[in-house]
Amino acid sequence: MTDHLTIVDHPLVQHKLTLMRDKDTSTAVFRQLLREISQLLAYEVTRPLKMTTRRIETPLTEMDAPVLDGRKLALVSILRAGNGLLDGMLDLIPSARVGFVGLYRDEETLKPIQYYCKLPGELDERLVIAVDPMLATGNSSAAAIDLLKEAGATNIRFLCLLAAPEGVARMKEAHPDVPVVTAALDERLNELGYIVPGLGDAGDRMFGTK
Ligand code: URA
Repeated sequence: MTDHLTIVDHPLVQHKLTLMRDKDTSTAVFRQLLREISQLLAYEVTRPLKMTTRRIETPLTEMDAPVLDGRKLALVSILRAGNGLLDGMLDLIPSARVGFVGLYRDEETLKPIQYYCKLPGELDERLVIAVDPMLATGNSSAAAIDLLKEAGATNIRFLCLLAAPEGVARMKEAHPDVPVVTAALDERLNELGYIVPGLGDAGDRMFGTK
């Protein structure tokens, strides 16, 4: 664990992640676990939210009670697998604004190309949490963060379920100011770019595609 990388080693997170990794876990159970684990990760990734106080009256007395300060935070899903993290996070942060970034890899240049981008306004005044379950090579994640910065975001965090050391290193090199929060740091990438031991293709497992 460094300032740049936080591994959420809470027992509930680790237990749910093990069930998600199991190849025999059904799509329905995978989705339910993803929703639950997203709530727990949302709790951790929002730790730096700014606070202020509001004067309220309890049934017994007045007090200055803590409340969130500033604009609503923005969740940005990196399509398509990022969408799987949204529902659970929105359970916990129902008033968050939500954006979407779609990227594909150009077959010739191997560079990520943007095909969709819809973001909330005033990104410069919000905590922006980019979400993608798998931080593998880190190329598309780094490109998505480039887009968020171009759109004005200055306070960005990246949330994933699993990270490979290669992806963490790529993000640290490209965006040292963007902390990465993950449930686990796995061993490596294989020759096809899958995280090992991993959980397979996160999009296929959550949407039941092949
Ligand atoms: N994307 C996935 O869905 N799984 C991996 O292992 C790597 C990237």
